[in-house]
Amino acid sequence: MVADFDPTAYGASGIAEEYDDLYDAHWETDAAVDLVAELAGGGRVLELGIGTGRLALPLLDRGIEVHGIEGSPEMVAKLHDKPGGERIPVVVGDFAHADAGQGFSLVLLAVNTIFALPDQRAQVECFRNAARHLGPSGRFVIEAWVPDVGAFRANRLVRPRIMGAERMSIESVELDPVEQMMRTTQAVFSNGSVRLYPANHRYAWPAELDLMAQLAGFQREDRWADWSRCAFTADSRAHVTVYRL
Ligand SMILES: C[S@@+](CC[C@H](N)C(=O)[O-])C[C@H]1O[C@@H](n2cnc3c(N)ncnc32)[C@H](O)[C@@H]1O
Repeated sequence: MVADFDPTAYGASGIAEEYDDLYDAHWETDAAVDLVAELAGGGRVLELGIGTGRLALPLLDRGIEVHGIEGSPEMVAKLHDKPGGERIPVVVGDFAHADAGQGFSLVLLAVNTIFALPDQRAQVECFRNAARHLGPSGRFVIEAWVPDVGAFRANRLVRPRIMGAERMSIESVELDPVEQMMRTTQAVFSNGSVRLYPANHRYAWPAELDLMAQLAGFQREDRWADWSRCAFTADSRAHVTVYRL
């Protein structure tokens, strides 16, 4: 239930300390920044789940005014410690409900973070909250994976993530097809230390996200397989979708 959801939990795992090392090389940052900057058309951007500023700081460098909503004070502290970070106002709270103002040109929700919300109701609330923050014809841009339940065997999956000589990680994932939940723990190994980072995702296929968008008053403007605008096809394992008021 939404009432039990704790948006600070992600940061409380200690992941803020090594988030950038774990993910900076993994995500498609430059192309994402290019596309978001273009779609924002010079207007203000609000990033939901802004994290340590992987996207927000390069957007700021382009002269774009960026704001954030973030559940984890630890992630916000990392962002504000970086050069330029202090120029990004962040509301600490749950992005399904928190209020960071109005009149934004674009609201951004990257890397599957829509699925961090624990159920369908919270995800619909998030779409509505994005709409409340946007000005007329504003855009809500979501990046998410396409659920691949066929990769599981007996609803379980173990997969390597980082494969390096100094740091490696594996993820164990448990699937609950009834609640559309994937419960993941990433184990990160380096010399002398193992860290466990849990992350739960209430997954949804693109069509369900489209319906949530409609409930919040959006039309789908575009859908691509990635930030470089590759065509979204039956084989696409992720999508970047642009919704518009
Ligand atoms: C995977 S990280 C992505 C960070 C950043 N957007 C990026 O692209 O690198 C997800 C972020 O969303 C935050 N988050 C997850 N659920 C949230 C919620 N309901 N409200 C606010 N922040 C949330 C987490 O604390 C974390 O910082």
